[in-house]
Amino acid sequence: MRIFQKCLQFFSGNPLISGAADDTGGWAGYWNAPTIWSDSALWNRQMQVLLELIEPFVKFGAADRVLDFGCGSGFFAAQMQGQVKEIVCADLSQHSVELCQQKFAGRRDVSVVKLTGDLAQIAALGPDCTKTLCLSVIQYFPALDYLDEFIAAVGKISVRGGVLILVDVGRAERTWRERLLTVLFTLRHGMFWQVVAKLAQMQFSDAAYQAVLGRAGHLEIPEQYFESAQQRLGVKVTKIPRQLTLNANRKSYIIEFV
Ligand SMILES: C[S@@+](CC[C@H](N)C(=O)[O-])C[C@H]1O[C@@H](n2cnc3c(N)ncnc32)[C@H](O)[C@@H]1O
Repeated sequence: MRIFQKCLQFFSGNPLISGAADDTGGWAGYWNAPTIWSDSALWNRQMQVLLELIEPFVKFGAADRVLDFGCGSGFFAAQMQGQVKEIVCADLSQHSVELCQQKFAGRRDVSVVKLTGDLAQIAALGPDCTKTLCLSVIQYFPALDYLDEFIAAVGKISVRGGVLILVDVGRAERTWRERLLTVLFTLRHGMFWQVVAKLAQMQFSDAAYQAVLGRAGHLEIPEQYFESAQQRLGVKVTKIPRQLTLNANRKSYIIEFV
């Protein structure tokens, strides 16, 4: 019965991954430890699906130097290593950084950087990034000003025409249409039972997730933010007209440094 309630809750409201970072037992603490996501077959599959679906809008190629900002366990690098010139995995979480260091030890095309939250550090992640991926990360940022500064900092280390790809952005609530789209997406991409299994795992072996979920909010990013960012930050913003993740309520954007 509780699993059924969890399924209902997921498909109707809370995304599997959401929250706001803080240093006092909030999401930052949650991610800085082994989680049920650290080696998740579901999120690995999600990354595969994302890379297929994004292809008409963003093509990764052999010349790319990619920054995976908020890399987590390195699902992106695990799938794209050898296919692009270089990948920089960067994260606030010491645990994620150590996982990535182990995973990519000995690979000269993948480097791993521990971040502190100070955006000035981004300058050292350049130069010449062609693409920066930020998947399910900016909802953890403390404020919209921080997001502005982040975009500007990524712009400074990017080549002209380089892009920042923001995936899974927006509100946590789902409309009925979005609930249906979430179910259909998981069925279409062979993820439905993995989601159900993950919900069971969350229920029985992830009390920390439930505790943090109850405490922490997340940064709400209004859709108008991106319209005004174009003028304010001198970037070109394009909304990707396609659902890329199981979070049908969230949107994805390409920010081009023109
Ligand atoms: C939901 S996980 C997503 C991980 C990865 N992008 C993926 O999709 O597999 C969010 C990650 O963002 C990181 N994060 C949160 N706030 C951050 C910040 N200000 N700077 C860098 N990383 C951050 C967390 O430590 C966590 O690893």
